[in-house]
Amino acid sequence: MTALSVSTSSAASLRVDAVVVGVAKGDKGLVPAPGAETVAEAFDGRLAEILDTLGVSGAEGEAVKLPAPAGLKAGFVLAVGLGDAPADGGYGAETLRRAAGVAARTLAGSRKAALALPAATPAEVEAVALGGLLGAYAFTAYRTNGNGKAPVAELTVLAPRKGQKEAKAAAERATVLAEEMNRTRDLVNTPSNDLNPKSFAAAVQAAGKEYGLKVEVLDEKALAKGSYGGILGVGQGSATPPRLVKIAYTHPKARASLAFVGKGITYDSGGISLKPAGHNETMKCDMSGAAAVFASVVAASRLGLEVNVTGWLALAENMPSGSATRPGDVLRMYGGKTVEVLNTDAEGRLVLADAIVRAGEENPDAIVDVATLTGAMMLALGNRTFGIMANEDDFRDRIFDATRRAGEQAWPMPLPAELRKGMDSSVADIANMGERMGGGLVAGLFLKEFVADGITWAHLDIAGPAFHEGQPYGYTPKGGTGSAVRTLVQLAEDAAAGELL
Ligand code: BES
Ligand code: MN
Ligand code: ZN
Repeated sequence: MTALSVSTSSAASLRVDAVVVGVAKGDKGLVPAPGAETVAEAFDGRLAEILDTLGVSGAEGEAVKLPAPAGLKAGFVLAVGLGDAPADGGYGAETLRRAAGVAARTLAGSRKAALALPAATPAEVEAVALGGLLGAYAFTAYRTNGNGKAPVAELTVLAPRKGQKEAKAAAERATVLAEEMNRTRDLVNTPSNDLNPKSFAAAVQAAGKEYGLKVEVLDEKALAKGSYGGILGVGQGSATPPRLVKIAYTHPKARASLAFVGKGITYDSGGISLKPAGHNETMKCDMSGAAAVFASVVAASRLGLEVNVTGWLALAENMPSGSATRPGDVLRMYGGKTVEVLNTDAEGRLVLADAIVRAGEENPDAIVDVATLTGAMMLALGNRTFGIMANEDDFRDRIFDATRRAGEQAWPMPLPAELRKGMDSSVADIANMGERMGGGLVAGLFLKEFVADGITWAHLDIAGPAFHEGQPYGYTPKGGTGSAVRTLVQLAEDAAAGELL
């Protein structure tokens, strides 16, 4: 991955391929953003004028290269748009992350770049560093022809001399978050012929070894012995059997414990209720929740948070075959509840139910599950916002607050009790499908049935933002995005600070 450092050197003195500056739309035209002073001087104060002549507007997403003037050691200057200049002088964190992301993406193929963007506070340093590292991401594991430029190798965030220690700490936090989001992106982007429950579990074991985290893998035999009917039922149609993976991070000073549960369907064909063409091309992304859970446990450990975090990854491949679960089959779930499978494409809730029951046995202070669970949530909230549901309203609201501080787009959703009866089954305790209207909430209500009494629980439906199909923007590439990682890490930090529960 791209290397990141912080420097207090002047933008003029750095021998880099490019220096990145920000420009915004001011009342009277373009204005260079804080951080750009040295570079603007090297242009004899004419930077804004030159960019204006070139038709640059300062809009977000804009990136324009200029030859470096005498006085700069850099090869060229890259000006990126920051949108409207803020009245109070402070650029928002998301604006900075996106601008740094655009810059890093534009700089693919260059070796070294300095980011002379606003970085006067630790929050700004973190935003620039995170956006830069996320924007530099490229998934190249399957390119053999050398097509596509290599990501920029080194990014240096230029920060003022004052508050250097804080700036370094902020950059370190950004590096962990970016690396763990990029780990998530890699897993999501890896095609299902290579990423299956077995290879996913092996990846978790390898990371567990690297970071000293305890990893336990239940294979199909252990799952059968433990009566994990949900995970087994979903996985039984596949040539690659399912797994339940536990990855635990503990801190001796922890006062709170969190359980994160992730949906890990390494491919969702729909099963016997096969998805029609046009709906399964991106279904390698259906393990995004499990990947986010995995990465955030590793992040909590790398950040040394004073909290216990256990990740539960419910891994299965949902395939149609002679051994697959049929619509109408009844599964005996972990813990004993029975579920009539009316639609084998509503498989996420089945694997999650087993994992939620299992997670609850360890009595965590809260369970948060993360899943690409329903198309209905995408209809409700679009492609960039995930839904938050919970069995306690204030927990849901605290999570919503955490998403905002973490810089993720999310929105609280209700769990209306009247939707439960739609899942009444004529043969089993519950059916895995209910009313079509409010399908995302119905799925949430199904999961809620498996949360033990007295346990605080929330459900994040990331079906929209987990996988980006459009053109890259800001720091978001095509494909896996790393959705929910920042929120889960924020929740762990809040819990460590005694502010979540
Ligand atoms: N993995 C899908 C949900 C999904 C759809 C995620 C599109 C990302 C993009 C899930 O397993 C699913 O198929 N859900 C069904 C549930 C229905 C059968 C009750 C859905 O949303 O249509
Ligand atoms: Mn499905
Ligand atoms: Zn699915």
